[in-house]
Amino acid sequence: MSPSTFQKNILCIGAGYVGGPTMAMIAAKCPQYKITVVDINPDRIAAWQTDHLPIYEPGLLEIVKQARGRNLFFSTEINRHIQEADIIFVSVNTPTKTFGEGAGKTADLQYWEKTARDILKASDSDKIIVEKSTLPVRTAAALERILHSNEKGIHFDIISNPEFLAEGTAVNDLLSPDRVLIGSRETEHGLKARQEIVDIYANWVPWERIITSNIWSSELSKLVANAFLAQRISSINSISALCEKTEASVSEVAYAIGQDSRIGSKFLNASVGFGGSCFKKDILNLVYIAESYGLFEVAEYWEQVVRMNEYQEHRFVRTMIAALFNTVSTKRLALFGFAFKADTGDTREAPAIYITRKLVEERAQVVISDPQAIANAKNDLADILSEVSFQQDPYLAAREAHAIAVLTEWNLYKTLDYRRIFQSMLKPAFIFDGRNILDRELLYKIGFNVYSIGRPPLTHFQD
Ligand code: UDX
Ligand code: ADP
Repeated sequence: MSPSTFQKNILCIGAGYVGGPTMAMIAAKCPQYKITVVDINPDRIAAWQTDHLPIYEPGLLEIVKQARGRNLFFSTEINRHIQEADIIFVSVNTPTKTFGEGAGKTADLQYWEKTARDILKASDSDKIIVEKSTLPVRTAAALERILHSNEKGIHFDIISNPEFLAEGTAVNDLLSPDRVLIGSRETEHGLKARQEIVDIYANWVPWERIITSNIWSSELSKLVANAFLAQRISSINSISALCEKTEASVSEVAYAIGQDSRIGSKFLNASVGFGGSCFKKDILNLVYIAESYGLFEVAEYWEQVVRMNEYQEHRFVRTMIAALFNTVSTKRLALFGFAFKADTGDTREAPAIYITRKLVEERAQVVISDPQAIANAKNDLADILSEVSFQQDPYLAAREAHAIAVLTEWNLYKTLDYRRIFQSMLKPAFIFDGRNILDRELLYKIGFNVYSIGRPPLTHFQD
């Protein structure tokens, strides 16, 4: 198909974890559309054009390769592509604000606003603008105000189409999503624009899974979905603390309650804590919005989900220090995993960041191992690089260590030769399984003192 015969020109601003995979899937499924992804970061754009994509995501390279050069293009020429586009997806970053009013809670919308102004400046025809990044509810109103301040007579329709993909499973989440949510103004113009976005997804998503709503419901649903998921983890993590005291097993409790179809079995794995770019940020956004409407009880209720997550991380470090005879000073401690979850190199809000910093404060010698996340870990720990070390090979990381802490549920860690690891470690040897992925009975038999989440420890000491 030659470029002039493409049915639609779709642009995505922001080539990150959301924009890149989403556009690759649309391009792979819809050869009749021309998809261009732009970013201000030239290194990112260059990497999308190679076999070393800027993000690690299983199966993504195959999808990108299907469409790249055919109907999927990457570029840094933002203005030119804005001008040519009929539909613009915006997936720039919306981190938590670190300064001024709402610092630590609300989203920092500076990248968003800059993008809106870029769109306004470069446009000379009507366009549909799709909010893909997670945004505080009612951002669309601000966006409309900026875009409609134009004197060129151009009409912009704003659509909210939040992303529900999870890292590590992005390809499958995009290929067969539980639902795609598309919100718009319910005016004649808004409904027409909504239909255009529905038509894109209808190329591969069954109709019944494409949900439409008013724009505010769509914006809010994204925050609420993440808040509910995170709440499940905080709920089971709170119970894990109780299990450690009562000799109940948190996995047995999770299994038993998860069999109730009203509760369901997913997202009930107790862990060292949840991380990732979304959960904390989205909950704090919700909290800020609730506070700004004077709904303080609502704000407090949701804030507790984040507090419980912090408690779980603190508790993990406290357990380590207490088990290691109340001092980790000068002790070599191997961290197995730094990414916030398996199958990603992403470390944003990873519990490992907090845990490393705490252990370094206690003057431990922390050795970090991870199959994909070492480069990001080095950035996260830039200010304390001289006090930590990195070792890709878990066997070498554990050598002469007092303890191992499993912080990411990489499959790799389930299949290591723990006998060999035990022999190479200092004794008594400890293992802290922050993801409950290891066979604790076997490790105990090998000789380890084993600490799991939500189970009393298995130790070779008499208390
Ligand atoms: C999440 C949402 O799932 C996704 O829909 C949204 O679009 C973005 O935010 P993501 O952050 O990629 O996706 O990862 P997710 O799989 O949700 O895991 C988040 C964190 O919770 C991870 O640190 C994970 O290890 C932890 N987790 C998850 C648990 O501790 N226990 C569980 O049972 C599930
Ligand atoms: P997410 O997880 O939401 O996709 P990322 O940080 O991975 O977030 O990606 C956001 C991308 O948006 C980054 O690559 C960043 O360079 C890009 N970006 C930020 N501001 C702009 C802008 N004004 N124009 C184009 N790209 C931008």
